[in-house]
Amino acid sequence: MRILVTGGAGFIGSNFIRRLLREHPDDTVVNLDKLTYAGNLDNLRDVEASPRYAFVKGDICDPEAVEKAIVRLGGEVDAIVNFAAETHVDRSISGPQDFIRTDVLGTQVLLEALRERAIPRYLQVSTDEVYGSIARGAFTEESPLRPSSPYSASKAGGDLLVLAYRTTYGLPVMITRSSNNYGPYQYPEKIIPLFATNALDGRPLPVYGDGLNVRDWIHVDDNCAALDLVLREGVPGEVYNVGGGNERTNLDLTRAVLELLGLGKELLRFVPDRPGHDRRYAVDCTKLRALGWQPEVAFADGLARTVEWYRDNRWWWEKIKSGEYRRYYAEQYKGLV
Ligand code: NAD
Ligand code: TYD
Repeated sequence: MRILVTGGAGFIGSNFIRRLLREHPDDTVVNLDKLTYAGNLDNLRDVEASPRYAFVKGDICDPEAVEKAIVRLGGEVDAIVNFAAETHVDRSISGPQDFIRTDVLGTQVLLEALRERAIPRYLQVSTDEVYGSIARGAFTEESPLRPSSPYSASKAGGDLLVLAYRTTYGLPVMITRSSNNYGPYQYPEKIIPLFATNALDGRPLPVYGDGLNVRDWIHVDDNCAALDLVLREGVPGEVYNVGGGNERTNLDLTRAVLELLGLGKELLRFVPDRPGHDRRYAVDCTKLRALGWQPEVAFADGLARTVEWYRDNRWWWEKIKSGEYRRYYAEQYKGLV
């Protein structure tokens, strides 16, 4: 396949590109990425020399940039996989504008390219956060969308546009909605890389509220396998939930990270809660399992390998944490050293 990946310089997109090049020797990939604060070409260092990979710097909201990326693929595209998004809930609370722009308007620009070029496949990489919080049980793909944050609302807006383009123009689109990913190359604003790198530096781990919010963790490799499967075998017009089946409270997760690094509770700090903080996420993945997918990475093992990766790859995160990140951190975690 000739695949246009957008947002491929981020966490999941870079892991997905690595998988495509490894598992599909006939695939060629163009990565269109704006390189926002979260985009990082270091994430793709090991594959950038591949003759089957090319990078184009550009914004998905700009139709000319999208066209340029398509031309870079030789003008023939078999699929678009859209990872490009603003992704951090806390940043969406302090400034929602970029989220609406990229996650909603950017999605529409890509859908227009699909329409004009009659591209035969489109995969929208979405999130379980569009369903909102659930106290018991799990959301299915039929559950209503009740997003709580500007991030999840803009992702829901993107999803609704994708589905409307299906209904109106019959476009060959699919959506995956995955739970919280973890693994290597995740920007250290999300809880696992933030806590692992803080702990490695002997800095406090800021737990929001009572720490009893629950997330269902999925290793990024398991999500990438799901994305790859849906891209090739998924049914156009369908939505697929992707969950890891590893529900943990944030407190349990924090204790596990500290334990893996041989540290006690001294670094744990309770800080004021995030506004609108969803209590629990959970999705039913029966539909995806019917396509032949199941998660392979056991959480204890995946978390241990992930924490080790951050321990062994300071070159990757120290650069990030010394830049613009410092201003963000000071503003987000006022008073925390
Ligand atoms: P990330 O923040 O690590 O990366 C986002 C990438 O998109 C960056 O490389 C950034 O430069 C790029 N980008 C942002 N705006 C752009 C624009 N206007 N044009 C082109 N590129 C742009 O995000 P991630 O964690 O890898 O998430 C990827 C996708 O998966 C997102 O759509 C996100 O909503 C979804 N998702 C993430 C998770 C998770 O746990 N991380 C869970 C479910 C769904
Ligand atoms: P996060 O990694 O931001 O992902 P999301 O909000 O998209 O689920 O947060 C995961 C959980 O960890 C969430 O319940 C909020 C909590 N959290 C903290 O307690 N402290 C922090 O510093 C961060 C970033 C998150």
